[in-house]
Amino acid sequence: MIKNLLVTGGCGFIGSAFIRKILRDTDINIVNLDSLTYAGNPENLIEIEGNHRYHFVKGSIQNPELVENICDYYKIDGIINFAAESHVDRSILDARPFIDTNVGGTLILLQTAMKHKIRRYLQVSTDEVYGSLGESGLFTESSPIQPNSPYSASKAAADHLVSAFVHTYGLNAVITRCSNNYGPFQFPEKLIPLMVLNACEDKKLPIYGDGMNVRDWIYVDDHCSGIWATFLKGKSGEVYNLGGKSEKPNIEIVKTLLKILNKPESLITYVKDRPGHDRRYAIDCSKAESELAWKPAFNFDEGLVSTVNWYLNNPKWCGNVRSGEYMEYYEKQYKI
Ligand code: NAD
Ligand code: TYD
Repeated sequence: MIKNLLVTGGCGFIGSAFIRKILRDTDINIVNLDSLTYAGNPENLIEIEGNHRYHFVKGSIQNPELVENICDYYKIDGIINFAAESHVDRSILDARPFIDTNVGGTLILLQTAMKHKIRRYLQVSTDEVYGSLGESGLFTESSPIQPNSPYSASKAAADHLVSAFVHTYGLNAVITRCSNNYGPFQFPEKLIPLMVLNACEDKKLPIYGDGMNVRDWIYVDDHCSGIWATFLKGKSGEVYNLGGKSEKPNIEIVKTLLKILNKPESLITYVKDRPGHDRRYAIDCSKAESELAWKPAFNFDEGLVSTVNWYLNNPKWCGNVRSGEYMEYYEKQYKI
């Protein structure tokens, strides 16, 4: 059993949900290494402040000495890598940080894992590495890797490095590939929180292209339980797809959000499509269901209402993240 877990990127949306879960459900000690980029927010972990099993280190996964010192000092025996540049639109503006963190940072973690004889490594990856689907079909773990954006290309490169370390050096490692997450604490550059906060402020809701691109939505806590099941039970060298079995076109989600918020559809504005915009993602997660006894538990409609309520009930958090650098990005991206 793992005693001291290094979680990277734990101040982000999914990593913070995972840390809250592990501290609640287990007696494992957690060290969170996060460089606090624009997406990293210590407020996401305010609830566990003072927990003696939790330690925060501010720094980058690209810093080999720091990662080594952490592994030494805290006697780390497991690593879960959430740290990443995670937004497709930003990767289109500038791919460099995506290569540096998602590929370069992963390499540092893998090298340190070998050197320190880490017992288990998990790479948090994405269904976007499989590219885009047509009208039908689902991504399985053996679908070809065909990333289309700089973001997904960097995640695919990292996945290949993990597999190479298993194959060449015998590292004990697994990879999860999950579909689009939603839930509390998601940074409002992603579809659902952006639309909720814009609608609350009666701002335009920018829909790319015809709004018929499809994503398979999963509640963040279901993703976290899938990551933990994979970490505990997954076979080394294997990939496990995680998905929410809730395929929706973007426009349908946005219209549902407007209904929940009692706001008019006239706020919807169709804008220029994202370059290289993947048409459809959908996940076959039957391998995780049969081998790990995991399944998504949250109903999409209920999860969406509770997510909207979370944003409505946390105006301070929303105000803090929607300021400064965020507005610069927003204006550059949308010009509306
Ligand atoms: P996020 O952008 O909210 O958080 C990323 C975190 O990583 C931030 O706290 C940031 O400060 C930190 N970070 C970035 N660069 C770092 C570095 N060099 N060193 C240390 N920390 C660094 O992202 P998220 O949505 O929570 O995604 C977490 C992981 O899950 C990512 O690997 C992403 O690719 C993957 N994923 C996300 C989704 C999704 O829908 N959000 C779906 C599938 C997979
Ligand atoms: P996003 O939340 O950025 O996730 P991803 O690109 O990783 O799937 O986008 C989800 C979908 O919503 C995607 O098809 C792009 C679309 N989208 C818009 O139409 N408008 C927006 O302002 C954003 C951020 C996304």
